[in-house]
Amino acid sequence: MNRLLTYTVLLGMLGLAGCELPPQEVKQVGYRGVGMEDIQSPERQAELMAANQPPEVLPPAPAAGPLASEVYQNVEVLGDLHVPQFTRLMNAITAWVSPEEGCAYCHNLNNLASDEVYTKVVSRRMIQMTQYINSEAKAHVGDTGVTCYTCHRGKNVPDYIWFALEDKTADKVIGKMYGQNMPAEATRLASLPADPFTGQLEEPGLLRVASDSAFPGSNDKDVKDLEKIYALMMHFSGSLGVNCGYCHNTRAFSNWEQSPPYRATAWHGLQMVRTLNADYLTPLQPVYPDYRLGPDFGDAPKGNCETCHQGVNKPLYGAAMAQDYPSLQSP
Ligand code: HEC
Ligand code: HEC
Ligand code: HEC
Ligand code: HEC
Repeated sequence: MNRLLTYTVLLGMLGLAGCELPPQEVKQVGYRGVGMEDIQSPERQAELMAANQPPEVLPPAPAAGPLASEVYQNVEVLGDLHVPQFTRLMNAITAWVSPEEGCAYCHNLNNLASDEVYTKVVSRRMIQMTQYINSEAKAHVGDTGVTCYTCHRGKNVPDYIWFALEDKTADKVIGKMYGQNMPAEATRLASLPADPFTGQLEEPGLLRVASDSAFPGSNDKDVKDLEKIYALMMHFSGSLGVNCGYCHNTRAFSNWEQSPPYRATAWHGLQMVRTLNADYLTPLQPVYPDYRLGPDFGDAPKGNCETCHQGVNKPLYGAAMAQDYPSLQSP
């Protein structure tokens, strides 16, 4: 009997040891006592470092020879490139988005000018979106910029996309749950609304809940709004692999003067993501085949902070992506 007990206890201890977090490193980034700490796991850092390396850069192509618009039949956005530059970009795009399928992922190989393959139509818009990010969203991406690789990483579909989620509790007797208790990766499994993106990453609007006076009702936000904002903040933190204190002074979350400068960068990122979703990604809905569309509402796949950041504070640790591809820098 005693022996059985010993074994049980030993087994229990072993089990618990398996649940232990890997070692964490804590760095103080603000005043003491207000939780201004950056907590990182060295083990996870090594994984992230390996997963976030920039791809090889193709050798530059000369600005010589005829223009693509003179040679090809159906070039709407890349007509100003010289043919060698055009070919270089096609090769780069293939390596970034469809290394296994090759040119055929977007082209009917018997007629490269044809738009019959939907991925080509999507890509044309993607090229414009990338140009928009690199030229109009500099307040966020600086001169670092992005290429297709920043999001795609050699895959047809980026690893991090989102669709609108239906609240399946809407007609339940116990009442509407507003997406709570549906642990979602988006909110890092917190019991917060499972879809923080719909609305908040599509339309302009201020994510503000703190009242600026001592009286109730000085803003029109309620607890439900607060939870949606917190859910999105969990996504911000998770996507960048940082804690709340990276962008906020925890003694006054709403106060901008006391916030670290990254919060302003994040604010510009928020406006950029909304434009990408509203002006580029959502309007592609009719172009996609059904199996690419959202399971609940048939909406187009959309992007969020994680689509580019993928776990680190600067995508690919700040590798300058746009500099080697002038044709993606601006329209
Ligand atoms: C991920 C999608 C994608 C892949 C992969 C791709 N292309 Fe393209 N390609 C496009 C798009 C989009 C256009 C139209 C550009 C425009 O409208 O300015 C285009 C246009 C072309 C054209 C011009 C055809 C014409 O007459 O209008 C040629 C030639 C071409 N691609 C060659 C290639 C080759 C060769 C490869 C493989 C090395 C390749 N492409 C891989 C998306 C792709
Ligand atoms: C900001 C992130 C981002 C960038 C940059 C980006 N894409 Fe995309 N791309 C997406 C998202 C999100 C989707 C939708 C995913 C889906 O199709 O399910 C997508 C879808 C696609 C698809 C459709 C894939 C399929 O199989 O349905 C193609 C092709 C594509 N992108 C090509 C490109 C090319 C080429 C570039 C660079 C010129 C590029 N993308 C740049 C985010 C991005
Ligand atoms: C990458 C930067 C970033 C991270 C990380 C971040 N936030 Fe935020 N947060 C922002 C920005 C930017 C806003 C303001 C958005 C706006 O004004 O539209 C904001 C707004 C807020 C607000 C609303 C403030 C007000 O004025 O009412 C709260 C509360 C908040 N964040 C809490 C958090 C919490 C809790 C975390 C950690 C889970 C967190 N944030 C992580 C950038 C960040
Ligand atoms: C289109 C890709 C893309 C998307 C989407 C994106 N970012 Fe970024 N972000 C970048 C790039 C590129 C940089 C690096 C800019 C630089 O080097 O100056 C960056 C930098 C940042 C920084 C500064 C980090 C530092 O340590 O200096 C913050 C904070 C940030 N992003 C937050 C966000 C938030 C929050 C979102 C979602 C609302 C978001 N980003 C969405 C591309 C993106």
